[in-house]
Amino acid sequence: MTQFNDTELTAAVIKSFDQTPDPRAKFLLQELVKSLHDYVRKTDLTFEEWDYAIGFLTRTGQKCTDIRQEFILLSDVLGVSMLVDAVNHRDRDGATETTVLGPFYVGEHKVTPHGTDISASLPGERMFVQSRVTDLAGKPLAGVPVDVWHADTDGHYDSQKPSYATEGPSSRARFITDADGRFTFRTILPCSYPIPTDGPVGQMITQTNRHPMRPAHVHFLVNAEGYEPLITHVFIDGDKYIDSDVVFGVKNDLIAKVEKRSDATMPDGKRSDGVWHLMTYEFRVKPGGGMAPAPLGTKVPEHA
Ligand code: BEZ
Ligand code: FE
Repeated sequence: MTQFNDTELTAAVIKSFDQTPDPRAKFLLQELVKSLHDYVRKTDLTFEEWDYAIGFLTRTGQKCTDIRQEFILLSDVLGVSMLVDAVNHRDRDGATETTVLGPFYVGEHKVTPHGTDISASLPGERMFVQSRVTDLAGKPLAGVPVDVWHADTDGHYDSQKPSYATEGPSSRARFITDADGRFTFRTILPCSYPIPTDGPVGQMITQTNRHPMRPAHVHFLVNAEGYEPLITHVFIDGDKYIDSDVVFGVKNDLIAKVEKRSDATMPDGKRSDGVWHLMTYEFRVKPGGGMAPAPLGTKVPEHA
């Protein structure tokens, strides 16, 4: 049996993965060992700290369910999700910027007619959204499914509320672009909201004196055939947390000026009562392929 000093130990563990059949898996595992060992050496990690870390990761796993993903939340608040996004989208070529998917893409995006109020049962200031999907040259793309979802004025997504089981989705729908690449819908003006703080990740945020808030936004997933799936948000300009998003997801091009209006009719000619808000945003997608992510909690059919 060979005895190792601490640098020899790192070399030995790296070497132990030498026979990994998949070269990419081998590279990822060996780099992971290097970074983890460097961290332990740099910090002189104590047994108590190591034990705490194991306990924290255990609690993180135990908090996960079909519709709750605490590990994604951990990745988000550590900036890892946005770093993965950055290294995979280095060259946008004029395409709309991307950002985190977040843990509330849970399915139930029913195809919905243009102009529908997707938050009809919810209180809040009313908002009309007019949008369009084009290619990089500005050519409109017809027949494109666009999933949208956002939080209510208490900062909750439909899937976080007990009513989801009985009443189904709200502030969540799928629109199909028309011949001119356009789609419209009505909803409420979303608010800034905290990420879930009832688990180990939220506790870490509180204990480290970080705030848990995300600036107000609407999520969009634009899934045009022959183009890269676009996972993004549109943020509402002027939000108090726009410069300090807890998951580091804001990009300048994704901030929309939402106009306060009092016209008696909305852009689709229908009447409105009182003040409302107008969000206008155009999405440009990049040629490519790939699959849009499956919603969290979606069961893959056995025969798939
Ligand atoms: C969200 O925007 O839905 C979200 C994203 C990352 C972490 C928590 C929430
Ligand atoms: Fe969100």
